[in-house]
Amino acid sequence: MNIDFSGKYVLITGASRGIGRATAIEFAECGAHVIVHYKENDAAAMKTLSMLKGDKHFLLKANLDDPFLVERAVFKALKKAGHIEILVNNAGVYKECDLLSSTYEEWQMHVNDTFKTNFIGMSNLTYFLAKHMAANGGGKIINVSSRGAFRGEPTAPAYGASKAALNQFSQSLAKLLAPKQVFVYVVAPGFVETEMSTSALKGHKGTEIKNQSPLNRVAKPEEVAHAIVLLASEHTEFMTGCILDINGASYLRS
Ligand SMILES: NC(=O)c1ccc[n+]([C@@H]2O[C@H](COP(=O)([O-])OP(=O)(O)OC[C@H]3O[C@@H](n4cnc5c(N)ncnc54)[C@H](OP(=O)(O)O)[C@@H]3O)[C@@H](O)[C@H]2O)c1
Repeated sequence: MNIDFSGKYVLITGASRGIGRATAIEFAECGAHVIVHYKENDAAAMKTLSMLKGDKHFLLKANLDDPFLVERAVFKALKKAGHIEILVNNAGVYKECDLLSSTYEEWQMHVNDTFKTNFIGMSNLTYFLAKHMAANGGGKIINVSSRGAFRGEPTAPAYGASKAALNQFSQSLAKLLAPKQVFVYVVAPGFVETEMSTSALKGHKGTEIKNQSPLNRVAKPEEVAHAIVLLASEHTEFMTGCILDINGASYLRS
């Protein structure tokens, strides 16, 4: 199976680190021009950029929590690239909060901050780029969810809820946008070796977490990146609306 994104631009949010960086590297390997989006970590974003094969890649800095900055970022990206065929909504935050011991103020912060990045920011960016794709012959949108949307996240309830919202949002858009040749997918990883999961994996529950999978390990960022690249390819049109589990059989649903 040949995957070739030559001449196409992909915008990957949260590409300064982790899954986003691995995804940027894979897209560049397959000939895409990569727009490396990030929030604030200039050094890490520049490192990602330096790791990309090919040309015409560029950085895009924007805090997705701010709707005005999202609009400005889209304007900047389209002005520079001219067109964007693929969007990977990968940026996300994981914040813990114990409902039983938190103050009401802490609880408000937990829910609002998580949803601002994981759902509202992602949906605002999608608003602009889905319209752009629909008006320009089509495109692909791949949203990064989590196993937690299905399994539950008792210590991070807003995280699980934000990813469940992302799943449903993606499926609604898959139905809406298919006639415009815009295809929408979700990948739902379990634990992945990135900064987001470092403290959990290095903590006293590290071994227990790895043993949740019969492979006795967690995913590598590249494994999620490969699935994203496959979904962005021309071979997966009829998979639109799917949610692809990438969790090493640690949580199976049927
Ligand atoms: N790691 C896991 O175990 C795991 C499991 C399941 C799902 N996921 C999902 O996979 C995605 C990527 O996770 P990861 O582990 O690769 O994360 P990570 O290593 O913590 O990186 C997070 C990325 O998101 C960016 N970001 C964070 N808040 C942002 C905001 N408000 N506006 C714009 N960008 C923002 C960061 O930019 P800066 O570098 O500039 O801060 C960074 O590039 C997330 O959606 C996460 O929920 C991860």
